[in-house]
Amino acid sequence: MGYLIRGARLADPRTGQTDACDILIEGDIFAQIALAGSIDVAGHEVLEADGLIALPGLIDVHVHLREPGFSHKETIATGTQAAAAGGFTQVCCMPNTSPVTDTPEVVRFITHEAKRHGFATVHPIAAMTYGLKGEALTDFGALKKAGAVAFSDDGRGLQSAGMMKRALQLSREQGMPIAVHAEDETLSAGGHLHDGAVAHSLSIPGIPTEAETTMIARDILLAQATGAHVHMCHVSPETAVAAIREGKRRGVRVTAEVTPHHLLLTEEEALTKGAAAKVNPPLRAATDRRACIEGFLDGTLDIVATDHAPHTPEEKARSIPEAPFGFTGIEISLPLMYTAFVQSGLLSIAELAARMSWRPAQLFGLPGGFVAAGQSADLTLLDPSEVRKVEPDSFRSLGKTTPFAGRKLTGWPVATFYQGRLVYDRVYTQGEV
Ligand code: NCD
Ligand code: ZN
Repeated sequence: MGYLIRGARLADPRTGQTDACDILIEGDIFAQIALAGSIDVAGHEVLEADGLIALPGLIDVHVHLREPGFSHKETIATGTQAAAAGGFTQVCCMPNTSPVTDTPEVVRFITHEAKRHGFATVHPIAAMTYGLKGEALTDFGALKKAGAVAFSDDGRGLQSAGMMKRALQLSREQGMPIAVHAEDETLSAGGHLHDGAVAHSLSIPGIPTEAETTMIARDILLAQATGAHVHMCHVSPETAVAAIREGKRRGVRVTAEVTPHHLLLTEEEALTKGAAAKVNPPLRAATDRRACIEGFLDGTLDIVATDHAPHTPEEKARSIPEAPFGFTGIEISLPLMYTAFVQSGLLSIAELAARMSWRPAQLFGLPGGFVAAGQSADLTLLDPSEVRKVEPDSFRSLGKTTPFAGRKLTGWPVATFYQGRLVYDRVYTQGEV
């Protein structure tokens, strides 16, 4: 007795093909993938999926789950339920927790909590320096052994080039990437929005693009010097896209992620959305946004990551200077990307599956990212005809703030299978799992 998903078009990121298939799940793995109509229905629970698109379970390498320490903003349970509702079956969580994820104990706590709830696999990204203070490097070997998949001081830039070089050498020895939050604090100092026309008109201090790009340029040089894999988080300025493109051309092991908000929004959002549009790095100028789109389409920016950064509604109701950076994203990332890139004809659905599942798995050394017999049954069903507005109040995440609130989007996830279990379902049982 297994689930037989009949007639969905399966987007294969490895071949670029999207063909109508029958998909049989038995236990926690895919037992058989075959042409639509060819698997005998006898003995299986049949889920008719005609008109739906099947994708390998999505993978987000940049989320903030806030536990331990900030469970009023999000918990591992609510964050992974939000992931399931967004079509994600694996996420990497950032170490700016309390205590910071800088010891094997915290790494193990996170993976254990995620397993206990069972909505998605959580791969912890461990801190690069103790307490994210930029003073002393953590024990990379012990953190890897405990289950960390990368190192990062996300939320803060590592100011010392010497320490970054040493971190890259050590991460190379462990065969793991460093995920860089690029921010020179002497340049970003005190800024809240992109240093541009909107910040000026509101008399709010700005964060210039060079605060990000000088660090990105520095770390590309250090990756070249050490042979390490450096991964640039949430890239936003045109100058950074150009630096990464050039680094790749020279053969440096540099990869990068871009967020849906940097692809789709600009500094202008702050005029109407206030602190709901406050994020780090900031939403930038229209020219930066265009460069991110170009970089994403030509592969300079390899993958999509949400930077899901939930805060309480009270915190985000404050004025721009007083509110924290960041907003919720994981439940709307797929429809945002589907609407902007697939429906508009810029990318095929199989290519989007590559950027949101297969490539993230490759860059971070994770399992999955494609659908094949014998693989863990992680699968997302998307309804390309579903048109619906973003309603933050219905998010599973405790973070209810997004500058995309009220936006009409096409192509929503309707069911998510995680290790063979239906962990999110809006079509088959009509209820919430
Ligand atoms: C993140 C957070 O809230 O932890 N905020 C944000 O604006 N992106 C930190 C980060 O990803 O830099
Ligand atoms: Zn960051």
